[in-house]
Amino acid sequence: MLIIVSTILYYLKLNSLYQKNFYQTPSGQTKVIPHFNPLKTQIKGLYDIVTNKIRGRDAFRRALEQLLVHSEIKESKLCQSSFFGMHMILTWNAEVARAILFCKDSELGKPEAFLKLQERLVGDSIFLAVGEKWKAHKTALSPAFKWDHIRSILPKFLSVVDELVSTLKSQVGSNPVELYPWMQKATLEAIASAGFGFEFGALREGSDRTAQIENYESLMKEFQNPIHLFERLDRLTGGYSKLEKLFSNFESFIAALISSKREMISKQSQNESWVPNDVLDYLLWANDHNGLTDQQIARNMNTFFIAGHETTAVSLANLLYFLSENPDIQKRARAEVLSLSGSNPPSYDELKQMDLIDRCIKETLRLRPPAPIVLRKADHDQQVHNLYVNKGALVGVHIYAIHKDPNYWEDPERFDPDRFLPEQSKNRPPYAWMPFSIGPRQCIGNNFALLEMRCFLARILQAFDIVPDPNSKETFCEYVGTGLQPPPKCTLLLKPL
Ligand code: HEM
Repeated sequence: MLIIVSTILYYLKLNSLYQKNFYQTPSGQTKVIPHFNPLKTQIKGLYDIVTNKIRGRDAFRRALEQLLVHSEIKESKLCQSSFFGMHMILTWNAEVARAILFCKDSELGKPEAFLKLQERLVGDSIFLAVGEKWKAHKTALSPAFKWDHIRSILPKFLSVVDELVSTLKSQVGSNPVELYPWMQKATLEAIASAGFGFEFGALREGSDRTAQIENYESLMKEFQNPIHLFERLDRLTGGYSKLEKLFSNFESFIAALISSKREMISKQSQNESWVPNDVLDYLLWANDHNGLTDQQIARNMNTFFIAGHETTAVSLANLLYFLSENPDIQKRARAEVLSLSGSNPPSYDELKQMDLIDRCIKETLRLRPPAPIVLRKADHDQQVHNLYVNKGALVGVHIYAIHKDPNYWEDPERFDPDRFLPEQSKNRPPYAWMPFSIGPRQCIGNNFALLEMRCFLARILQAFDIVPDPNSKETFCEYVGTGLQPPPKCTLLLKPL
């Protein structure tokens, strides 16, 4: 009896929350933001987490398709749902998305960390800070991400991709290879070297691997375990203490890195011509001049480690699989690289002229955006564009759904880099493509990521013909793992050129 009464009360509470969020239709009618039955949504959400349905082949696409069976959701490109105290409004109307993402922090700010560990990892960093605090981070970090500085780190990217190519030649040879783990190692090395000025040794194998690399990789793997979303249960089952140990090791490693870099800078900066060289230099410089605290520096480093390599790793891996499936496009892309750089390492100016390479990257980021949804939080009841949202609601922009909207993208699932040619883009609003988000909180690392991906792709195409493996245990598809990655066990063949 008690269960029935509590369920009814809970249902009524949820329903009244849903009734507080409205939108205005194009004809001027005010309606409650469409939704499914609130109780069913909770039960289904829990079931999907427990049975791991939120991961795997096409999981993200399926979730979107399930929303689109509701005709009002489909038409308005808008829905709301609640999941154990978290109320979320989600939109993939590009106009509304633009209005949301250009809001000030005081209107729609970044939501605070919802897990203690997330707070300990990236709280008080540029990623989660709001208002004046965010401005201090942004001011300290912006110079490190301007093209002027980014172009100076090209030699570091080239040295990492050359190590990757020679390791692949010696370790993999003509055997089938899963490319994603290799891209993870290489982009981790790239952020360590170009971002923080040290060698992580991520591409080393066997006994050459350092304890730090082993620890970092275990930590990233552990983060994916959904049990960590349920902190109490996690503590009871011992999962939390395992994660905590890996995390503490990582924090000590970052602290040691900061202190050795600080010592090096204090020696080198006595020479008046010293200028900051990498992201960590800029952070330490700001620590001396603009007052970022040691904790803020460490949290920013964590942010850059995480935001700065998984995103590029997954994009490069997907891109190479797309090219293996589209040999004509691969051939054209290689011809572009060879015509500009021959077999030499490409210069910055040559990379900037590689239009097809650029379009292939854009098309991959459209089809597999590494950050498929970005979130904001309403600090107070307010109106944004045609939405009226209730205080405390999370407001999500569904970048993935915007990127697949047939109103902007003909045959959206097809890999077709030429859709970014000027004549094919002229009728499409620029914000129909926003893998780096838009507005004041857009990705600060976009130039870094784009140069890294261009340079990696160019060098890989100079070195290998990439072909599907006829004996692969899996076919290439969209797979939800760490992000929207190629499925595990999906192998390719790399034929040296
Ligand atoms: C393909 C590569 C990448 C993609 C698609 C990507 C995407 C994004 C997106 C969508 C956001 C906005 C998140 C939000 O509004 O909640 C973001 C923010 C951010 N990204 Fe990236 N990112 C990439 C690479 C990088 C790299 C290489 C770095 C650093 C080296 C980086 C550092 C950051 C930081 C620090 C923020 C927070 C900026 C702020 O709040 O002011 N990202 N990224």
